[in-house]
Amino acid sequence: MEIRVYYMEAEILKIAPDDIQKEDISRAGRILLTGGLVAFPTETVYGLGGNGLDAKASEKIYRAKGRPSDNPLIIHIADMKHLEEIVMEVPKQARILAKQFWPGPLTMIFRKNEKVPAETTGGLPSVAVRMPDHPVALALIRAGGGYVAAPSANRSGRPSPTLAAHVAEDLGNAIDMIVDGGPVGIGIESTIVDFTEEIPTILRPGYITSDMLRECIGQVNVDRGLIEENSDIQPKAPGMKYRHYAPRAALTIVEGEEQKVIMKINELVAKAIHDGRQVGIISTDETAGKYRAGVVKSIGTRLEEETIARHLYEVLRQFDESEVSYIYSEAYYTPRMGQAIMNRLLKAAGHTVITV
Ligand code: TXA
Ligand code: MG
Repeated sequence: MEIRVYYMEAEILKIAPDDIQKEDISRAGRILLTGGLVAFPTETVYGLGGNGLDAKASEKIYRAKGRPSDNPLIIHIADMKHLEEIVMEVPKQARILAKQFWPGPLTMIFRKNEKVPAETTGGLPSVAVRMPDHPVALALIRAGGGYVAAPSANRSGRPSPTLAAHVAEDLGNAIDMIVDGGPVGIGIESTIVDFTEEIPTILRPGYITSDMLRECIGQVNVDRGLIEENSDIQPKAPGMKYRHYAPRAALTIVEGEEQKVIMKINELVAKAIHDGRQVGIISTDETAGKYRAGVVKSIGTRLEEETIARHLYEVLRQFDESEVSYIYSEAYYTPRMGQAIMNRLLKAAGHTVITV
């Protein structure tokens, strides 16, 4: 007998953040309550949601993403009282951060209790928790039982999705529903702070910077595995050790004084084109006109660094769909979010940097 496997395309349900229809949310929520998977928008990136207290749903998430099962998921909550339900204790400093930054792009890690299945936390005794700042996400979490495990809704190894269309590209035939709430606001994943350490420790940089955290709670460490990314020290967040966001083309970052960077990139591009290659350039509104050849994309404007974070993954995805074999990018050590942006860009480049 011939056995055929048919993949159902995920239903795409549009829900406008400023006009949330109750029936829509309850339909999406019902999928979560019955063990299914729903991708949804947050303020950082799109997440792939499943019931975080259901081991089977978590297993489905790993399968859909093609994600290694030792890489734990973040549980998304919509109400502070739900935090107490799944962790051993909430340290005072974590309460202060929750009060200041939740809902928002901050994930905190606590010792988990027995309600959280090992499948959700990749076998770790700790659990990551976040309350996202997005009306659609919050409504869906409430409708879906209150504890929605959600990694970024990309296939493992691809850039995180900042549009519903990116989710459809990666997971359209592997999940039940995609809630399309429009483009996300921030564009890079949340800051992660580990509270299982004596001194709270940043495991992943994001929109909320170390300075913002220190202003609220004093001493905050940064995971050494983050700082010395090329050394033998393993990052403490399992996901940070993988070479995420790797574009198909070879990406090189060129850093230094602006005029010199432009000259160097022009030179590299000319050489690649001479060798018969197509080349992409990641620039800004300020510099895009100064490149003489190649496929030039502007990532945003240096006058508003948020625009650079917001478009980073989208630009990388666009180049994946083009024929370029090399991509040259400027560096974006912008004042506030530079650390978070460069953390992603350096990973995408496999740390290939030319300093001029
Ligand atoms: O902004 C975000 O955080 C997005 C949206 C959807 O909320 N989510 C997200 O999830 O980025 P994901 O799974 O792509 O990244 C979660 C990161 C991974 O690097 C994982 O290893 C780490 O958090 N992580 C999760 N639980 C952890 C734990 N208990 N201990 C250490 N690291 C943990
Ligand atoms: Mg991810």
